[in-house]
Amino acid sequence: MTRVMKIDPINPEKKLLREAAKVLREGNLVAFPTETVYGLGADGYNPKAVLKVFKAKGRPSDNPLILHVNSLRMFEDVVKDPPNLVYDLISKVWPGPLTVVLRKSEKVPHEVTAGLNTVAVRCPGHPVALGLIEELGKPIAAPSANLSGRPSPTNAKHVLQDLGGRIELLLDGGETFFGVESTVLDMTTDPPTLLRPGPIAVEDIEKILGIRVTIPEFARGLSYAGEARSPGVKYRHYSPKKPMVLIEISDYSDLRRYADIVLGFAKKLVSSGKSVIILASDETAAYYEGFRVVVLGPRMNIYRIAKNLFNALRIADALPGDVIVAEAYEEIGVGLAIMNRLRKASSEIIRF
Ligand code: TXA
Ligand code: MG
Repeated sequence: MTRVMKIDPINPEKKLLREAAKVLREGNLVAFPTETVYGLGADGYNPKAVLKVFKAKGRPSDNPLILHVNSLRMFEDVVKDPPNLVYDLISKVWPGPLTVVLRKSEKVPHEVTAGLNTVAVRCPGHPVALGLIEELGKPIAAPSANLSGRPSPTNAKHVLQDLGGRIELLLDGGETFFGVESTVLDMTTDPPTLLRPGPIAVEDIEKILGIRVTIPEFARGLSYAGEARSPGVKYRHYSPKKPMVLIEISDYSDLRRYADIVLGFAKKLVSSGKSVIILASDETAAYYEGFRVVVLGPRMNIYRIAKNLFNALRIADALPGDVIVAEAYEEIGVGLAIMNRLRKASSEIIRF
């Protein structure tokens, strides 16, 4: 049985945080909200507890975890010789949805980093996450609290769907804020390399650092082949159980034309006997009359699209229907994170 405790996401009750920290200290697992998605936490300095995370998620053992810290001191405990550039960045962005990859210190167990000599670290911008780290007094190792390969959880219900009965405790702090996982930046390379786009836009990172960041194909969700610097990128992710087709074009300024293309494709599927669900935006949803449509939000405000994305994937999966047809978005700002997730969730990408 998984115990569920409702917690105030803005002013988390000290008593509850203390109780949750006790569960972590005893070597057990606690799922908790962050500003991005729910995390599945273990005491970051306890190898046995960390191994339980891999088991509960069904996560491949070569895919390392992020350490969550709540102070500069704790950050410096887990990394070795961080370059000055890192401080420019984290002083502006933390607490917040940015993870940096650096050389690890001796203190970090190999179980956390899956044997790598680097470690991924972030200081989350969520009162429950920060409070929990503070009560534990140690970094919390936490991947997203979903079964491996499934969409990341943005509320407590998603966590229970995937991990109910597999973990000790779930802190239910309501919906998460951003809805996509943190930006992951490898700072062991010069220039830094984007490993996973997220809420902190790569354009903003470049502005802060005053240099260009390398954006490999896999960070766009395009290629899994070749040497994967971030072990997580080689696995298919965020996948609904149904097949999903993503429809891309080169220019999204004429949405009427784009919706016509998507509609035409969906109708072709219908004529081949398939029942279709369309993942649409506010601006285009009305074009798809007669179809089951899951609406993500307005293209005018892609933060709302990001926030609803994983829930929409889970909803589309639960609806009756054979195939999901998903609209695509411009790769600007958080749009790059949305496209990375959509491409990695798709079984097929069609470009018009
Ligand atoms: O927003 C987030 O980052 C959420 C919340 C819970 O903090 N966490 C999260 O963790 O998304 P996870 O494990 O689902 O994704 C972590 C990603 C994986 O792709 C992993 O391969 C990569 O970070 N990663 C972790 N350590 C790494 C390292 N040392 N070098 C390269 N990539 C690393
Ligand atoms: Mg994950």
